[in-house]
Amino acid sequence: MHDLVITGGTIVTAADTYRGDIGITDGKIAALGLGLEGRDTIDATDRLVLPGGIEAHCHIAQESATGGMTSDDYRSGSISAAFGGNSCFVPFAAQHRGMGVTETLDLYDSRATGASVIDWGYHLIVADPTEKVLTEELPLAFQRGVTSFKVFMTYDLMKIDDRQFLDILTVAREHGALTMVHAENSGMIAWMTKRLVDAGHVQPRYHAVSHPALAESEAVNRAISLAKLADAALLIVHVSTPEGAKLVSDARMEGAKIFGETCAQYLFLTRDDLDRPGMEGAKFMCSPPLRDTATQDALWRHLQAGTFSVFSSDHAPYRYDETGKLANGPEARFNQIANGMPGIGLRLPLLFSEGVNKGRITLQQFAALSASNAARLYGLTEKGSIAIGMDADIALWDPNETRTVTAEDQHDNMDYTPFEGWSVTGWPTTVLTRGKRIVENGELVAKPGQGRYVARARIDLTGYPGHRAPELDPATNFGANIAPGAAK
Ligand code: URP
Ligand code: ZN
Ligand code: ZN
Repeated sequence: MHDLVITGGTIVTAADTYRGDIGITDGKIAALGLGLEGRDTIDATDRLVLPGGIEAHCHIAQESATGGMTSDDYRSGSISAAFGGNSCFVPFAAQHRGMGVTETLDLYDSRATGASVIDWGYHLIVADPTEKVLTEELPLAFQRGVTSFKVFMTYDLMKIDDRQFLDILTVAREHGALTMVHAENSGMIAWMTKRLVDAGHVQPRYHAVSHPALAESEAVNRAISLAKLADAALLIVHVSTPEGAKLVSDARMEGAKIFGETCAQYLFLTRDDLDRPGMEGAKFMCSPPLRDTATQDALWRHLQAGTFSVFSSDHAPYRYDETGKLANGPEARFNQIANGMPGIGLRLPLLFSEGVNKGRITLQQFAALSASNAARLYGLTEKGSIAIGMDADIALWDPNETRTVTAEDQHDNMDYTPFEGWSVTGWPTTVLTRGKRIVENGELVAKPGQGRYVARARIDLTGYPGHRAPELDPATNFGANIAPGAAK
């Protein structure tokens, strides 16, 4: 007799689709079979039963690179994530210059604990890699289960230089952590921005012009080169160009420990959205920026081919008012407007509708992109699949329900959605975290604080041996081409 049984559904994992019941005891999947019995039952007839989504790129209760606070806290952000089919999320804990890492993580603990309805972890943004951070605080962060570090190559207040990047990659390598990078060339963006602003081109549409595709591909190429030199694992987040995706794909083919992520907005929106009347385009400003339909097609092909391990929302919610996008006034220049857009509740419905229902990806790819790949890559060893012993993090989906997206129907703390008016088929109906209902038949049934912090394990690099750069190998005299023991 299980605590809870989910009966009669079609179970979908990254490997299989099959009919079966799921027996849940003490928050874990205890049995898979037919005719299972429990003290409590969820009828999943006509439902797909998937691993609960893992949203691995979102900004929650975070001060942005330019100082503004996101509109979602851990309560509203986690509720919105759950309505979008997620059982767990991994927002960023952002170290700003002058802050310690331990202090940063304590601060985010105080923001998340008692608020989140789903389980959570943190990626640590490292903006100030002092000696103390590198030698003492990053290892301590790793010990508390923060096993991924994000760095920025752009944004004046966040960016690190190549040497600092190599230091962080090296510490991450030693501890089995994953470095994540926002890869855009800062100098190119600053140079373009000045030219545009000096010429009076200040409307939101020029945001896309100021972040040329070359700024991404140059930075992705440099980031991959640095990771190869350090023989470290690196994830390029929010890849927005075919050139960036190809660099990731080529590096993976070479056996480098390189991973890629793309996000919903790059598949579904274009820079034409920045051209809306007045300041409306500000709602569609994110970095890297939206591109064009040819880019969308190319990114879909990379998603289908496996270039991208992770598909995320990059939920960075700033309202269309004076607290967010218009904080610098209703006529702010494009470079004075907060970057980012909301989407944590729509990442998976959009991928299901446009991906699975339109025959672009299989259900197995959907399960992999929604949860399983992120679980493996980010060390969430007890999440991301429907298998005995795993956390009972589960989402029931109605694959046939069609809804029109509106901002009012979102559960975030936003006043707009970039996907207003989209017709989406396939929605999560019930979501569980560790066997506890969070959303049931479209209603919130969780209490704030029901989620738990998840300490993550070192990343699993099985199948990615990497290559030790000769310049780092004492056995070859650091590539100096002098026989060991020979006179130097
Ligand atoms: O524009 C975006 N994506 N804002 C969020 C911060 C980041 O760069 O990921
Ligand atoms: Zn970023
Ligand atoms: Zn982001």
